Formats: sequence, C-alpha cells, structure tokens
Amino acid sequence: MAEPVTKNADREPILQVRNLVKHFPLTQGVLFKKQVGAVKAVDGISFDLYRGETLGIVGESGCGKSTVAKLLMNLERATAGEVFYKGEDITKLTGRALKAVRRNIQMVFQDPYTSLNPRMTVGDIIGEPFDIHPEVAPKGDRRRKVQELLDVVGLNPEYLNRYPHQFSGGQRQRIGIARGLALNPEIIICDEPVSALDVSVQAQVVNLMERLQDEFELSYLFIAHDLSVVRHISDRVGVMYLGKMAEIGTDEEIYEHPTHPYTQALLSAVPVPDPEARGGRERIILSGDVPSPANPPSGCRFRTRCWKAQDKCAEETPLLAVPEALKDTGSLAAHESACHFAEEKDVVGAA
Ligand SMILES: Nc1ncnc2c1ncn2[C@@H]1O[C@H](COP(=O)(O)OP(=O)(O)O)[C@@H](O)[C@H]1O
Ligand code: SF4
Ligand SMILES: [Mg+2]
Repeated sequence: MAEPVTKNADREPILQVRNLVKHFPLTQGVLFKKQVGAVKAVDGISFDLYRGETLGIVGESGCGKSTVAKLLMNLERATAGEVFYKGEDITKLTGRALKAVRRNIQMVFQDPYTSLNPRMTVGDIIGEPFDIHPEVAPKGDRRRKVQELLDVVGLNPEYLNRYPHQFSGGQRQRIGIARGLALNPEIIICDEPVSALDVSVQAQVVNLMERLQDEFELSYLFIAHDLSVVRHISDRVGVMYLGKMAEIGTDEEIYEHPTHPYTQALLSAVPVPDPEARGGRERIILSGDVPSPANPPSGCRFRTRCWKAQDKCAEETPLLAVPEALKDTGSLAAHESACHFAEEKDVVGAA
C-alpha cells in the first residue's frame, strides 16, 4: 500500500483511497458492440478520510465527483485502484461482506426531489434500509425508530404517513439525511446535498449536518461544485479537475494559500461582498471549456486553460505532492498540489 497522501498522519484514517480509476467504455455499433475508447471519469485519485472529519471535494460539473462517490459506495466497480475501509479493500468485496460494509457507509444525494420515491410514505422511505438490515430495527420497533430519526433531523415525528410532495425542498433533504442515518453509519458520502436548495435553506441543512456529525461521530465526504459551499463545513478540501485531484489541504491551506492555478481561478470567481476587500488582487477568468474526459490533454489536464502553462506541462503529468520549492518554507502553501509551477498568488475571493 502506498504512503498516506495527506499529512494529518497523527489521525486515524477511516477510508484510504489509492489510485482509484473508473473508465466507462465508449462503444460503437448496435449488434456487435466494439469498444472505441473510454470516458476517463476518475483517473488515478488518492486521498484519506479521517475519522470524524469532513473532507470537501470540489470541482466543476463533469469532473468525476459523483463517480468517486459511487466508487466509495461500491455502486460502481472500480477499473483499478483500492478503497481501504478500516484496512480492508472494499472494491474487491461481494455478497455478505459488501453488505456489512455498506451498512457503515451511507449516501445522501443531491436532488431531494428525485431521490425520494414519490409513492412511498416518509416512514417507509426512512425505514427502507431496515428491510436490508433487519438486525438494526426488528419489525415491531421500526415505527419508533423512524419517529426518532424524524425528530433527530428536526421534523415532526407524526409526519411519517405523509408523502414527499407534502414537504419543502429543505424538509425533503432532511428526510434524505434521516434515511442516511437509519443504519447508524460511520461515514456519510454527501453528493451535492444542498446544491438543489435555496441559499437560505442551504445554511440550515449544512448546520443540521454539522450538528449530526458531532452527535453521531460521523465522517463526511462532502461534495460540491462550489468552494464557498464547503468552506464552513470542511476540515480539509480536495479540488478535482477532469478526473484528477489538483490540490488538497486543510481549509486554511486551500482558501488562504492555494498554489494550484485551478484552485486560484475557482477562488477568484467567488464574489467578494465588500469591494474594499478586493484590494489590488487579481480576478482570474478561466477561458475555454473543460475538455472531454474521453480525450484529456496530455501532461497536466488543466494546461489548455492555464495561464501559466509551459512546454513541460504538455509533456509531464504533475504529481500530487508537496512542491519541492515550498517544502521547507514552513508556509501553509506547503501542501499537496499537482502543478509543476505551484506558487502562492493573491486572488480575489480568498480573503
Ligand atoms: N455510467 C456512465 N457511463 C458513461 N459515462 C459516464 C457515466 N457516469 C458518468 N459518466 C461521465 O463521467 C464524467 C464524470 O461524471 P460525474 O462523476 O457525474 O461528474 P460530476 O459529479 O463531477 O459532475 C462525465 O463526463 C460523465 O458524462
Ligand atoms: S502544471 Fe502547468 S498547466 Fe498544469 S496547472 Fe501547473 S502551470 Fe498550469
Ligand atoms: Mg455529480
């Protein structure tokens, strides 16, 4: 097994992701399907999730965030790489062993409108995981358990016979969270859990999730497409670009001392409420679209949009590591960044 890629080595990792790859085959032909390529949705990603922490994962739409989530849940089979849960590689598990692990790793989905079955009552939705794991709540105990869960997420326990359409978006996401908690998991993978909600409701749901994290000692992988959403909840943040991890570090390292041009561009796009705070700092406008993951650029994948790109960037793939030039500086800029020319830059929004 490779060395841990993050520096919080004093803490205990609950998930260790190593060189995780997911390629979706691209086929041609109707009767005789022939593979003509692959969508490299996730292309060699490594990180740790520590017990009790929130790791935010951020990146533009299509960069592979949901695919990472599904690989961690084993809902998609990895093309290569490993996911160690308490030291056991769960990508190789099947049957009963997989079922046992799945109890401890649950998911909350982005869209509370489509992820809840409209024909099921809230009680049945929240209690559904008990069908697969009856040992957690025997039949006679389910109603009480579901009511407890409703109470825990701030909903009236008497609502259990209602249907999803009778709830607001924020309430539906509370229902989704209650279902995620039903089996008393250790890890919850949250795939853009608040992206579909109004900004005012987003904060309430994020606050609820923070409270539940303390109460139930949960570890969160919290996915968002926007750095501002994960700022308050994350202990560490990983920035993804086109199937790769561009930069990873503590929230202070990423928000105050980003060294990867992509992170710097994302941060510079965050609106600054106070124009004074903008000072003389630059705003970086990213040009061009995200290239297709079926045909990613050689070397550094960000090079087609990077204002610092040089010949080396097309020839050599930068590794995710603490940059040599920053190693002994003692600065918070000395964290892992996959760029040949990683350096700090004052960007709008980073304040
Ligand atoms: N089942 C699939 N088959 C083929 N391509 C897929 C599949 N799922 C996702 N992709 C592709 O993989 C890439 C990453 O998708 P996804 O993980 O959903 O990104 P994100 O969640 O960051 O928006 C996208 O180009 C998407 O079209
Ligand atoms: S390796 Fe080159 S292209 Fe990639 S982010 Fe760094 S400077 Fe830009
Ligand atoms: Mg997604």
